[in-house]
Order: sequence, then C-alpha cells, then structure tokens
Amino acid sequence: MIRAAAGFALLACATLAGAAEIRPSRDYLSPELRAQQDDPSRHPGWLWVEEGEALWRRGARSCASCHGDIAGMRGVSARYPTVAADGALLNLEGRIERCRTEHQGEAAFGYESEPLLSLTAAIAQRSRGLPVSVATDGPAAAFLEEGRRLFGMRQGQLNLSCGQCHDDNAGRRLRGDVISNGLPTGYPAYRLEWNTLGSLHRRLRACSLGVRAEQFPLGSPEYLALELLLAARANGQPVEAPGLRR
Ligand code: HEC
Ligand code: HEC
Repeated sequence: MIRAAAGFALLACATLAGAAEIRPSRDYLSPELRAQQDDPSRHPGWLWVEEGEALWRRGARSCASCHGDIAGMRGVSARYPTVAADGALLNLEGRIERCRTEHQGEAAFGYESEPLLSLTAAIAQRSRGLPVSVATDGPAAAFLEEGRRLFGMRQGQLNLSCGQCHDDNAGRRLRGDVISNGLPTGYPAYRLEWNTLGSLHRRLRACSLGVRAEQFPLGSPEYLALELLLAARANGQPVEAPGLRR
C-alpha cells in the first residue's frame, strides 16, 4: 500500500507534459503484447470469442434466431455506448442484457459473468479495426458532459483526475505500466494480472482504487457516463477488442 501510494505521489509531482495527442492503445503496448494481441492463436481472449459465438447460436430463442449470423454485428460495438429510445444510456453489455430479459425472456446474465463477457467479446471482435463512431450530440450530450466532469474531477486520497494520468502523463511509466490515453477500445480485454477476460468497468474500478477514490459498481451511471466520454475521446481510433493487457 505504502509503496504504491509513494509511486502515485511521485507521478503527481512530475512535471506535466501538457495535453498530448490521443494515440491508439496498441501504440503503448510492448511489441510482444502487441504481436500477441494481433494473433488469435496466441491470444487467450479468443477462448471467450469462441464461447460467445457458440452462445449466440444456442437455444430455441437464440440471439441468432432474431439477428442471424453474428457477422451481421460488424460495426455495432463501435457505436456504443448509445442512448436507447427510452432515454437510457446503454453500453454493449447493457444492450445484450436487455435482449436477454426483454427479447429472450430470461434472467439477466449479470455483469462480469462468463456468458456476458463472452457475448460482448464475440460481438465487439466483429468491429475490430473499425473506427469508433459514438454519437455525442442529441440525447447523448448530457451524458457526455457528466462523463467529462468525472474525467476532469480530482479524486481520492491522491487527488488525481483521470486526465492528469491519461492526458498529461501518457507515455510515462507507472509501476511497470506505460500510461496510455485510457481509451475503451480494447475492452473487454484479457488482462494478465487478472488471468481472465474483464470488462471496461472492471478496469475503471482498478483505476479508481489506484488513486484511493470511490469505486463505483460495474454498470453504474458514473462508469457509463465515463465510458461514453472515453469512447468520444476514441472516436476515429480502431476497435482493438478483445485487447491483451498486462
Ligand atoms: C426476439 C428477438 C431478439 C432476440 C432473441 C435477441 N435480440 Fe438483440 N435485438 C432485438 C431487437 C428488436 C433489437 C433492436 C433494439 C430493440 O428494439 O430492442 C436488438 C438489438 C440488439 C443489439 C444492438 C444492435 C444495434 O445495432 O445497436 C445487440 C448487440 C443485440 N441485440 C444482441 C443480442 C444478443 C447477444 C442476443 C442473445 C443473447 C439477442 N440480441 C437476442 C431482438 C432480439
Ligand atoms: C494515477 C494514474 C491514473 C489515474 C488517475 C487513472 N488511471 Fe486509468 N490507468 C492507469 C494505468 C497505469 C493504466 C494501465 C496502463 C494503461 O493502459 O494506460 C490505466 C488504464 C486505464 C484504462 C485501460 C486502457 C487500456 O487500453 O487498457 C482506461 C480505460 C482507464 N485507465 C481509464 C481511466 C479513467 C476513466 C480514470 C478516472 C476515473 C483513470 N483511468 C484514472 C493510471 C491511471
């Protein structure tokens, strides 16, 4: 704990590099991780993609029974999060859960459950390489503003905002990591530290914990608004999901 806090404090004192340009997350990976992320045969996240594709077709009222082949999901995840007709901000996980409960008539899978991670990975993978293109105007504008507020807010015992790390200190090392621009493009991602696939919100909880700030629940309004802001920052950057991370 003390060692970790000291590391963060050092960072807070470092001279700020100034608002850097946004670069794809893969640019910040080690060459080895980047090569592995690109190679399905060496990427453990592909186990979830395959499981998700199997789930897509499973059962009488399968996802496929309404949506057809999962190849038709190309480009979909690049547009999420998005505001649904009823005004709710939905990320891909939330959209899948709605289909699960409203269209399949089943109980929700639950955030961070294997089936939800698998389906999310399988659908997001279909947008791999495509540019993120979330809407930021109209009904999304108010959510985006809230996300921007949270991103710029100093938080936790270390009193650091997201932007102080992911804008001002991108490219610097922090406890073995190279700080990226904090884009959502690689999620869900297989993280070696987790030894499993995890959602973006799980990663956000880790960042909140890192600065000793309040951790919001997975799927919470706070992390959804942040997810929209992160996706807006990533507009035009390629989807990398499933990512591979330290
Ligand atoms: C009974 C038909 C039905 C089933 C079964 C179904 N969905 Fe859907 N799905 C829809 C409809 C209709 C929409 C459009 C939004 C709405 O009206 O709810 C949709 C929208 C979506 C979207 C967003 C598409 C976009 O372009 O934004 C995704 C992703 C999705 N469904 C995934 C799934 C998954 C995963 C499953 C299986 C767990 C599933 N759906 C099962 C009917 C279905
Ligand atoms: C003390 C510095 C620090 C703060 C503050 C911080 N993060 Fe991070 N964050 C990191 C580090 C280190 C990583 C892992 C390396 C990387 O991918 O940037 C990371 C990773 C991420 C990632 C994953 C990027 C990827 O491609 O895997 C996202 C997204 C992210 N942070 C968002 C946020 C948000 C949103 C906040 C504010 C709530 C925040 N971070 C606050 C240091 C920080």
